Amino acid sequence: MARMFEMRRYLSNFEVSRVGHLLTDVLVVGSGIAGARAAIEASQHGDVILVTKAQAADSATGSAQGGIAEPSGSGDTPDNHVNDTLRVGSGLNATAAVRYMVEQAEARIEELIRWGASFDQEDSVAHRTREAGHSVRRVIHADGDSTGKELARTLITRLHQQERVRLFENCYVIDLITMAGQCVGAVTYHAKYGHQMIWAKQTILASGGCGQLYRETTNPSVATGDGLAAAYRAGAVLGDLEMVQFHPTTLYIAGSSRALISEAVRGEGAHLVDRAGERFMPAYHPDAELAPRDVVSRAIRSHLKDKGGNCVYLDARMFGKGVFEARFPRITRICAEFGIDVSRELIPVNPGAHYMLGGVVTDLACRTNIDGLLACGEAACVGIHGANRLASNSLLEGLVFGAVAGETAGNNLATTEQLGPSLNIGSLNPSSDRTVLDVGDVRTSLRSVMWRNIGVVRTGHRLRETVEIMEFWGRFVLDKTFDQPSGWELQNMLGLARLVAQAAQLRDHSLGVHFREDSEANNGPSEPQHLLVVKSDDGPVYSWAPPCLKCPAESLP
Ligand code: SIN
Repeated sequence: MARMFEMRRYLSNFEVSRVGHLLTDVLVVGSGIAGARAAIEASQHGDVILVTKAQAADSATGSAQGGIAEPSGSGDTPDNHVNDTLRVGSGLNATAAVRYMVEQAEARIEELIRWGASFDQEDSVAHRTREAGHSVRRVIHADGDSTGKELARTLITRLHQQERVRLFENCYVIDLITMAGQCVGAVTYHAKYGHQMIWAKQTILASGGCGQLYRETTNPSVATGDGLAAAYRAGAVLGDLEMVQFHPTTLYIAGSSRALISEAVRGEGAHLVDRAGERFMPAYHPDAELAPRDVVSRAIRSHLKDKGGNCVYLDARMFGKGVFEARFPRITRICAEFGIDVSRELIPVNPGAHYMLGGVVTDLACRTNIDGLLACGEAACVGIHGANRLASNSLLEGLVFGAVAGETAGNNLATTEQLGPSLNIGSLNPSSDRTVLDVGDVRTSLRSVMWRNIGVVRTGHRLRETVEIMEFWGRFVLDKTFDQPSGWELQNMLGLARLVAQAAQLRDHSLGVHFREDSEANNGPSEPQHLLVVKSDDGPVYSWAPPCLKCPAESLP
């Protein structure tokens, strides 16, 4: 039965001799901070096509609120930032990668400012906010709580100024093309142009995460894990897929999309209270509301279990109307849309899936195990975040390693042969019309099962059950050949959900964001290990690896 997942090398049937073909030096998949920054860098070396499945601004970057961590403020040092990142990451971080990212932070942000980004100021210096896990105020932000929007605006504007970049919006990457073990581009679909093959000397995967696997998520609707699933089918090594970070405070109103309520709100002093109005976090952790996200998420779950209720509440009434609105205009607006006046009323919140810490395993130069394929940002696992991510390190990772990926790709161009249209890309599978499928129904059910069974707290029997459910659905979803993104997305989500569930089952101890209720916290190996997975004809092959996957500092471009 597992073979149903493994036999689909390509999700779509297309005739190579009939589809359109494009050639480029570098193909970038994804237009968030990592992809945009990678494309800008790569275009200094060659021609670039950047494809994105919706509009360029429709990325997790665009909806990021809190900010970007940068350690050059007074009373802070790069060492402090490195140490906070490692402490929160529970020993699974790649220290060299963390150090490189932190040391690059100031220069990369100055570069963004030169390109037109504007960060909030206080007394003529960047205002810094506090978020969980940071020992000092370190997080700079824009338009209060619209940091991601400002970064996306800056990078997309810059992208448009690059003569060597072509931006294809609404262009869905179905699969990465491999020939003789080398990635040579991607098969894409566009409603107007149909299937196309984009042949590239270097392909950079910056396709983001997969929060849409969960019913409750802060992620935009595009975050269905297509890039991760395509990389798996192409033979890339993926790591730590069980490490899904949950954000404790997403707006919880029936029927609303689960908007993020930034941690910066708690950083500035808001409290979490239960339905009786009682503040409860101090009883769970000395840092109370600013305990690490996994701790706060679990505390919410366990408090609701003890005291009842469907959600808890953020109490931000102490700020007063003008003050909150000035600091958090976007959150004020989102709440107001649902009739909540944050200066007088509590904000209903619950945890939601927020960030995939695992991804395609890379070295420090963003190289994967497949020649010609690089990865960066949330789609990658270079080892920055370990088993838990420090708030506001994700935009920084995307910015820094996006630039690295672009440079590595650029440097590789001279030594990579351009492969073009070929009939020899391997076998495509026949489609079965055995059942008529309600794609939307399976998708909704999948997201509910993931939320119920592989959420903030996990147990062995629920994980086993989830793998069985995914394999059952696989029988009648994976045998189809769809001709629209909604079908391919479902196949990707199903394949990835099965891998997340298997990985969570195999990691039978708690570590960072992965909390196994059925195991003692100290039950794991004395040194934390990465859990790697790669596709074989007989099913996924899992193995354990020590921290620092494959990231010697000398692998930097
Ligand atoms: C937030 O604003 O709370 C999210 C920031 C992050 O995930 O790093």
